[in-house]
Amino acid sequence: MDRELINVYDYERSARARVDPSAWDYFMSGAWDEITLRANRTAFDRIRLWPRVLMDASASDRATTVLGTPIAAPILVAPMAYQMLAHPEGELAMARGAGAAGTALVVSTLATTSLEDVAAAAAGPLWFQLYIFKERQVSAALVRRAEVAGYRALVLTVDAPRIGRRERDEHNHFVLPPHLLMRNFVDVGLEHMDVSVAGSGLAAHATARFDDALTWEALEWLRGLTRLPVIVKGILAPEDAALAVEHGAAAVIVSNHGGRQLDGVPATIEALPAVVRAVAGRCDVYLDGGIRRGTDVVKALALGARAVLVGRPALWGLAVAGDEGVLQVLNLLRAELDMAMALCGRPTLASLDAELLQDPATVPAHA
Ligand code: FNR
Ligand code: LAC
Repeated sequence: MDRELINVYDYERSARARVDPSAWDYFMSGAWDEITLRANRTAFDRIRLWPRVLMDASASDRATTVLGTPIAAPILVAPMAYQMLAHPEGELAMARGAGAAGTALVVSTLATTSLEDVAAAAAGPLWFQLYIFKERQVSAALVRRAEVAGYRALVLTVDAPRIGRRERDEHNHFVLPPHLLMRNFVDVGLEHMDVSVAGSGLAAHATARFDDALTWEALEWLRGLTRLPVIVKGILAPEDAALAVEHGAAAVIVSNHGGRQLDGVPATIEALPAVVRAVAGRCDVYLDGGIRRGTDVVKALALGARAVLVGRPALWGLAVAGDEGVLQVLNLLRAELDMAMALCGRPTLASLDAELLQDPATVPAHA
């Protein structure tokens, strides 16, 4: 392994040198002024940890479960479109790397590899991320295929009735190069991105295909279609978290889509506590957005998330060294989590609680 690659930022730097500039912009962009993209990071950085000492830091088992599936650490891989833009083996390498790290991968509807091929290559648990198309039977067919291929849950993304305006993609006229296809749609003839449009080809594709009239009825529809657990991704408001539970969600993911949708929304770590309160233990709560250090994972778990998902860092690992790079990034985040927990005096995942974040000077002496 390259000796210089000791944290995710090293992978970011190395990946940037390998990826086509327009694809790089697509990966890294946030919407509009990228205020939320930056906030996802700065909000983590503002939180202070208050460790305890002499708590026996010898334990190092960071394993947990998500919806009954055992994983080696509470760090999953978020769904990301078009992974062959990062590496020729794309989603296949991502699935091998995530599986080697002992964690779950969420595969995007907009993968450049078919969901069946990803499942055949995968070494670990898979969830399938769903965008609901205007032609519902197109999405229903994907659900059935995911069931047959052995995916263990569906992740319904609800924050993208339209694709957020990423101005770098507009300037670059971001489109898939001709050799890359949205492989899940070959059978229905929707595998090509229209390259003739002005601006972002992805934005145009989503406007043409994604159902922007969805309501909570869509979640009912999806639950009626499958026995797989349905996870709702893209929750920020506590009211929406409660509605997701009431409509049968097995889990919610607090997410602002990595700052790529509505710019100006809160950082996910800021939105998490109210969502956790609203859900009140009725389903799992996960978080993504800006996780770059083991200490970020600690902060999210202390505020009530059961697990987190990483997006771009996994993509950087993929770009640098395929499946091996994905494995390295996930392993280094798990090692940082392990170290952070030991230094926090929190020997188990269950012992990560809000007290870890509370300035003792603000707590009444009798508390
Ligand atoms: C995404 N994300 C995303 N989400 C989703 O539900 N379906 C998708 O197809 C994609 N595609 C996608 C592509 C790229 C290049 C990125 C960076 C992100 C959002 C993703 O699942 C996740 O919410 C964020 O990436 C998490 O933030 P970080 O970890 O990238 O900061
Ligand atoms: C994105 C979409 C595809 O964020 O979810 O690019």
